[in-house]
Amino acid sequence: MIVANRLPVDQVTDPDGSTRWQRSPGGLVTALEPFMRQRTGAWLGWSGAAGGAAPQFDHEGLHLVPIPLSAEEIDRYYEGFSNASLWPLYHDVVQRPEFHRSWWDSYLQVNERFAAAAADVAAEGATVWVHDYQLQLVPAMLRKARPDLRIGFFLHIPFPPMELFMQLPWRRQIMTGLLGADLVGFQRPMGAQNFLLIARRLLGLRSSGSSVQHDGRGVHASAFPISIDIKAFDELASSPEVVERAAQIRRELGEPEKIILGVDRLDYTKGIGVRLRAFKELLEDGSISAPQTVLVQVATPSRERIDHYVTMREEIEKTVGHINGDYGGIGGPAVHYLHQFMPRDELAALYRAADVMAVTPYRDGMNLVAKEYVAARGDLGGTLVLSEFAGAAAELRQAFLVNPHDIAGVKAALREALELPPAVAARRMRAMRRTVRRYDLDHWAESFFAALEEQVE
Ligand code: ADP
Ligand code: F6P
Repeated sequence: MIVANRLPVDQVTDPDGSTRWQRSPGGLVTALEPFMRQRTGAWLGWSGAAGGAAPQFDHEGLHLVPIPLSAEEIDRYYEGFSNASLWPLYHDVVQRPEFHRSWWDSYLQVNERFAAAAADVAAEGATVWVHDYQLQLVPAMLRKARPDLRIGFFLHIPFPPMELFMQLPWRRQIMTGLLGADLVGFQRPMGAQNFLLIARRLLGLRSSGSSVQHDGRGVHASAFPISIDIKAFDELASSPEVVERAAQIRRELGEPEKIILGVDRLDYTKGIGVRLRAFKELLEDGSISAPQTVLVQVATPSRERIDHYVTMREEIEKTVGHINGDYGGIGGPAVHYLHQFMPRDELAALYRAADVMAVTPYRDGMNLVAKEYVAARGDLGGTLVLSEFAGAAAELRQAFLVNPHDIAGVKAALREALELPPAVAARRMRAMRRTVRRYDLDHWAESFFAALEEQVE
């Protein structure tokens, strides 16, 4: 059973008042949806809309159990504590986290609701896999209600160093919540090390190797770098329809010599402004010119009512306007900016069309967009510019690794990537494809479950 803040589909209301299901945003769903499709089991999560209890239902082969959130809980638990306290705190305080007691109370209450629903639905001795920062209290709550369960937890975002984590007024409760799991998984080894250190120093727990003793049980903490269903995405991107659509995209863009692409949730951690600035300066100093070189930036709407997101969107859209005002031509903008959801085949075609993929987050647990780009390039074309601060950088060593705080470095990497001879680019891409094929989604899930089994034996 999967317990995650979101269901794999979001309930969207169209302007005419009709509702439909649309794939939920974010990397968690990208990874877990194909994983669950190969198995039987339930997925508990929120539908993305405010409302009361709704019945369980089946959707495209998945059994979904909606957990209701009221408008006030969306405000306090989701937008507040999850995304304005924990999200910035866990991402290196890129923006200042806010702490409010009313948000915490709501987080506690919603975590209790998820735990109660999971306790209700899970079969005797079932394995329950709880996901991400929104539900860190669920493991302990669930263990209390159902000691028969095998409980794994996976954090999709970075787990911060002790100096930052200690800012959290409810740091003990969060740690105790996580320690309810048998296995706590992180994207990077550093996350697991931070967790173990905090368990020792803050809670005074005894540890040995990668485990700590808590409540008479061992809790194991380790890294399991997440991935995507590489084979499926590779096949999609190599299909004749997608290859043809990629060629069509190039035509629609006016047959530029080079396309730089960015694909992100519109989030301040993603460093979208960094690549816009680097692109603008390259135009300014004459290293590149538009419309021979264009930047396509796809930004999925995300958390649109939170202040930091509102401000960031305004800044980004202003910058896009400035660049196009200064460097675009009639019918030929320098930046093509799309603030919209995109179907998977259209994304695959964009990856396939792009000469340079720019992934420049200030901090990112993994960044599956980088892996999708590599998976999509069965033709061995394209180069990847990737932030050192994305978890994916540990695996994709043949990318042009950049420090997003260093604009000159990002500019230099973009230039190099744009000018890279195709044979060298193909060599790099082949090496990265080998890595992503080896450490794919199955490897991630299987290694997590093997470790969970070992822990509870
Ligand atoms: P995060 O989980 O922080 O959003 P990831 O890069 O790990 O970041 O995952 C983002 C996922 O969302 C990817 O699978 C990507 O393909 C998908 N995605 C990004 N932009 C869009 C979009 N405009 N429409 C649909 N899916 C998108
Ligand atoms: O992968 C990180 C993540 O924050 C998920 O937990 C989340 O579901 C997704 O990105 C998208 O964010 P949200 O659910 O807030 O739209």
